[in-house]
Amino acid sequence: MSIVEKIIRNNIRNLVPYSTARDEYSGEQAVFLDANENPFYTGVNRYPDPSQSKLKVKISQIKNISYERIFLGNGSDEAMDLLIRAFCEPGIDNVVSIKPTYGMYKVLADIHDTEFREVLLTGEYQLDKEALLKVADLNSTLLFINSPNNPTSNSFYHEDIVYLLDNFEGIVVLDEAYIDFSQQRSFMDSLDNYPNLVILQTFSKAWGMAGIRLGMAFASRDIISVMSRIKYPYNINKLTQKFALQKLDEESEKNAWVKMILEQRNILRLKLMKLEIVREVLPSDSNFLMVRFDQAKEIFNYLINRKIIVRDRSKAALCDGCLRITVGTEEENKALLKALQDYKS
Ligand SMILES: Cc1ncc(COP(=O)(O)O)c(C=O)c1O
Repeated sequence: MSIVEKIIRNNIRNLVPYSTARDEYSGEQAVFLDANENPFYTGVNRYPDPSQSKLKVKISQIKNISYERIFLGNGSDEAMDLLIRAFCEPGIDNVVSIKPTYGMYKVLADIHDTEFREVLLTGEYQLDKEALLKVADLNSTLLFINSPNNPTSNSFYHEDIVYLLDNFEGIVVLDEAYIDFSQQRSFMDSLDNYPNLVILQTFSKAWGMAGIRLGMAFASRDIISVMSRIKYPYNINKLTQKFALQKLDEESEKNAWVKMILEQRNILRLKLMKLEIVREVLPSDSNFLMVRFDQAKEIFNYLINRKIIVRDRSKAALCDGCLRITVGTEEENKALLKALQDYKS
């Protein structure tokens, strides 16, 4: 039995998806009297392509994966939501994940009345793979892992992720939101080996398009087909599709940004480590730094007064005293360093 057959919710298996007017006719030149739109041209008076064909063709070339194995969502958050919706029976199934990690996994599980079983990372912020398998039971349908991990900023060992893919009995959702900044290679090349693997990536980070809300999921045709059947019909709006299509032609710009951000990250880390108020800067494999201070809360408030906004992560597990700082432009990073140098406790 395929993994999808094994864990899909009954109501989703039996669902008759909504069929849009644009599903029935996809040509471009026609008299469209089928969708109750306003016929007067505004640029956006027509509904967008529900299957985002042009965008997927382009992404399939960039990512070297077939069109049918791509799902596009209103941010990768949408893909996470749909995976839980499809594969977790509310009140019965559970999701396994790590702690600390990206907060939306738990929020989405809570929304779907799905138990969220968290396993603390090790002291080195790595996966406790045996503990993750141990908390799983027959109702553990999804395992969420984020590598590089937000907020700890490090990547997990490749072989630990492989171990979980080999041994976890449900679907492993590997969130690679920060993969463009990482030294580790993506698992995209392993998709063929693992029918239980879903990879999430996003245009919100390295690609510089957080404002258009566009995320990707890559997986087997079976899994992508389930997600596509249950999504909102027009989940990616026309402006987003148009903007992304243009930007995808500029991959070299994205690569240049990544290079600059990584250079800045390394400079910022070294300079932060020299400050007396900084206890530690965790090694980062992403575009942000976890910085441990003796007086995190005070420094957080002080920075706000200086109009420099960072994220207080001092309450997260294993992150006591830590502020999460996104790497900015050279000027922004200099402003941050200057403010921290000026800080008097
Ligand atoms: C690990 C991780 N995944 C996903 C997201 C959100 O991605 P998107 O903007 O595509 O919804 C974030 C945002 O901070 C994140 O840290």
